[in-house]
Amino acid sequence: MAQSTGTNKIKTAVFFSGNGSNLKSLIRFSYKKRSPISIEIIITNNPKAKGLKFGKIFKIKSKSINYKNKYLAEKKIFLELKKCNIKLICLAGFMKIISKNFIKKFKGKIINIHPSLLPKYKGLRTHERVIKNNEKFSGCTVHFVNAKLDSGKIILQKKVKISKKDTPNKLAKKILVQEHKIYPRAIMKIISL
Ligand code: GRF
Repeated sequence: MAQSTGTNKIKTAVFFSGNGSNLKSLIRFSYKKRSPISIEIIITNNPKAKGLKFGKIFKIKSKSINYKNKYLAEKKIFLELKKCNIKLICLAGFMKIISKNFIKKFKGKIINIHPSLLPKYKGLRTHERVIKNNEKFSGCTVHFVNAKLDSGKIILQKKVKISKKDTPNKLAKKILVQEHKIYPRAIMKIISL
């Protein structure tokens, strides 16, 4: 990916569905001088997503897209991204699977954060499954998005130790703290490639 300079930051979109804590950490990162990205638009499939408040607070263009018809939803999203000249898409708790066709249009430009040490525990309810299996460690992974769920090339991972007292909720919170740190670092890493 090309290096960005000064005002010429990489125009980025963030997709999310819920609380948006990763969205917030990415917005904060984007305002740092050393950050290579500027977040031009945030997109959700969920009109009630709590993360929408960050669009208001930081005055970033926000779009809530109705996903009843996925084909039409992606068409709308594509148009919005083109309008903003988006070159990088960060998925941050986006609960919809992106179609192969859409991924092709942004080949190598979509990245995701997943709350496990991939390739272990792809998919949903990772923390529950990790604890049930008596794992000693879990963590989080930032990876490129390809046509297979949670299977694209890994950019960065952070290990988190599981304590005996951890419930899925406690573990989720512990891992989120690390997610907020590694997502910006992963972006720095791909930009310098
Ligand atoms: C995070 O754990 C992320 O890894 C997963 O969904 C969660 C989203 O949390 N894909 P938030 O909305 O960023 O707070």
